[in-house]
Amino acid sequence: MSEDQAAPERRNFYGRVHGKTLRASQKTYLAEDLERLSLAGVTVADNPARVSLDVAAITGGRPLWLEVGFGGGEHLVHMAARYPGIAIIGCEPFVNGIAMLLGKIRAAGVDNLCIHPGDVRDLFDVLPDACVAKAFLNYPDPWPKARHHRRRFVTQGYLSALARVMQPGAEFRVATDIPDYVRQTLEEVPQAGFDLLAQTGRGAAWDDWLSTRYEQKALREGRDPHYLTFRRQG
Ligand SMILES: C[S@@+](CC[C@H](N)C(=O)[O-])C[C@H]1O[C@@H](n2cnc3c(N)ncnc32)[C@H](O)[C@@H]1O
Repeated sequence: MSEDQAAPERRNFYGRVHGKTLRASQKTYLAEDLERLSLAGVTVADNPARVSLDVAAITGGRPLWLEVGFGGGEHLVHMAARYPGIAIIGCEPFVNGIAMLLGKIRAAGVDNLCIHPGDVRDLFDVLPDACVAKAFLNYPDPWPKARHHRRRFVTQGYLSALARVMQPGAEFRVATDIPDYVRQTLEEVPQAGFDLLAQTGRGAAWDDWLSTRYEQKALREGRDPHYLTFRRQG
């Protein structure tokens, strides 16, 4: 079996974790803010026994939302600012994105947001059942080659973990510009215990949507957005 065909390692993270050199201000945000805003007890090193997180202690009793792969953090900060009555966790391993998010958090002054600066699978491991009230997956990595499709988020490994932590009736939103990603999402997400509520396109995003950097890039390059809304069964 070639490396491309081999099953993904459970802890392997595909993609860049470091990119362009950080600006001095971004290094300051990372040094001053990241530890305070990062959830404790998520990584294997921090919580080798994989003890479940105390969600009430994180949220203060507010509904918990989750954004997977927040990129530069614009949608995450927008949601935190628009909905001060919720608590939202953003996951992203890419350090340049994390630094961008930290700058936006300072500018917006939001305090209902925390970060897991790593792989969302580590967070899934330590979240209790049925604790997430809404989840966002915006422009997930497309993995265009057919032999890489099983690395996509919309595969049962990721989706069964997501389904376990979502509350019955919770909403799961997926935005993508890749038609084949729409196809796979429509096939796989219902198998994991979600019902499709809505499927829309260009000009018909969610009322509270904030266009992300990847969506802007897709639009510039002539690709169409697709917005899919699912509801966790139960
Ligand atoms: C194409 S980018 C989109 C970023 C942003 N959501 C947007 O719309 O601009 C996908 C992001 O997902 C992140 N990502 C990929 N796999 C992930 C994982 N297992 N856990 C957390 N984030 C992940 C990547 O680092 C990357 O920043």
